[in-house]
Amino acid sequence: MKLVVPLRASLLKGPQISKSVPIWRVTLLQPRMASSQASVFGLKDPSLIKFQGLINGKWVDSKSGEKISVTNPATNEELGSVPEMGLEETKEAIEAASKAFPSWSKTTAKHRHDVLMKLFQLMQQHDDDLGRLITLENGKPLAEAKGENAYSASFIEWFAEEAVRTYGDHIPCAMPNTRNLVIKQPIGVVAIMTPWNFPSAMITRKVGPALAAGCTVVIKPPAETPFSALALAELASRAGIPEGVINIVTTNKNISEVGKELCESKTVKKVSFTGSTAVAKLLYGMSASTMKKVSLEAGGNAPFIVFDDANIDEAVEAAIACKFRGSGQTCVCANRIYVQSSVYADFASRLAERVSKFKVGNGLEEGITHGPLIHARAIEKVERHVSDAVEKGASILVGGKTLPSPNGAPSSFFAPTVLCDVPNTALLQTEETFGPLAALTKFETEEEVLRLANSTDVGLAGYFFSRDVGRVWRVAEKLEVGMVGANTGLISQAVVPFGGIKESGLGREGGPRGIDDYMQEKLVVFGGLGIGA
Ligand code: SIN
Repeated sequence: MKLVVPLRASLLKGPQISKSVPIWRVTLLQPRMASSQASVFGLKDPSLIKFQGLINGKWVDSKSGEKISVTNPATNEELGSVPEMGLEETKEAIEAASKAFPSWSKTTAKHRHDVLMKLFQLMQQHDDDLGRLITLENGKPLAEAKGENAYSASFIEWFAEEAVRTYGDHIPCAMPNTRNLVIKQPIGVVAIMTPWNFPSAMITRKVGPALAAGCTVVIKPPAETPFSALALAELASRAGIPEGVINIVTTNKNISEVGKELCESKTVKKVSFTGSTAVAKLLYGMSASTMKKVSLEAGGNAPFIVFDDANIDEAVEAAIACKFRGSGQTCVCANRIYVQSSVYADFASRLAERVSKFKVGNGLEEGITHGPLIHARAIEKVERHVSDAVEKGASILVGGKTLPSPNGAPSSFFAPTVLCDVPNTALLQTEETFGPLAALTKFETEEEVLRLANSTDVGLAGYFFSRDVGRVWRVAEKLEVGMVGANTGLISQAVVPFGGIKESGLGREGGPRGIDDYMQEKLVVFGGLGIGA
């Protein structure tokens, strides 16, 4: 495995302002600091880069003056910084969203459709910049990052179109002289918390339906990748979304108090979160005190099953797309690959051969197929899963080790890995790896593999390959997951419901009913009409 990290001039570090600098000086320094920092990103439109949070339409610093340093995982160099906000800023952001709600929720659905379509167009027009930004802060290769931007924009387009279709119901009444009407109304202020693995798409998947429904939002983007969120907010403002409708609180070490306030505030009516199961459970508990509606898209541990009647070429390609997308850092990545014994050796050697050709490195460079993990800390879990599996009897077909970093700093690069003969007792069979590790386990019968596949507490996605139509139905129905890929490794689209069962979460995002999670139904019974039955 070759690590391709071409030598390049060190990126300039943005100037840091110490807390001891007098406030008047900080104010004077800021515009120059922002523009010199923005040039580090190399965007065509540097004004998309924001180094401040957004409250009530104003770009603002934290009250404390503290900052969060954001680094490029491919180079370990600082890209810039954003404010370390806390409780006070969160309260202000909630207040701003609440103030903006009455007028935004009263706009016509057609108006919300039009501004969201404008935002969709702006995201397409700026796809070079938005893609580059995703690569810089997340590490995924540029082509994949631009793919994320297209995926991200598709949520805005889909929900712009859904804004005008939030139909209610007329239900025949059980009593004379009365009529039943069910209307849908926006739920109110929505708190949105998102992960770093999709710096843009996880935001639009939530902001799209929220704004389309007429809600206003407070976004807490991940500390690792805040710039994509801030750029989206800038484009939203250019699209005509009024001040206070979108607010952004950036935070890292104050995350507990920010999360608690977002969940416990009486003003916030819904929490929408994507991230780990452990954090989802915490937020669910905190939201109970105000009976908030929640959408929780939590962890997975996807089984990927190859039966002996599968098209092996297609199964190998699908395993690559499914397992190694985002260097294995997606909730729907295959985590356990089960292959039936008669095709096991063939599948394993073809997969290993394809993976050995990957080019790992800085995602901005030509020819790179796979980028780094989000940070050096993420490497630790992958290393642990590899060494645990090997100790228990697995063999390494490709990869299996951390690659050196370009500048001697702790490395975020892990060699794409294929392990075979991974026993069912290996840690990775019950823990999500979140890294570029394909773990192969042999099975004999359909019954056995379904038992193995379903033997986890989580159930987000599952995949299988078979050309037997009866088996396709049987297995699709028996897999205990929210989403099944039958003869495909890619399932994610704005037009379908995305979400899990068991401890993978609550609610569905996207699809024809995705907007309903941001609305509440109200029954109006009209009586005394004097019209008979
Ligand atoms: C996730 O990893 O949480 C989302 C993956 C996707 O939308 O495909």
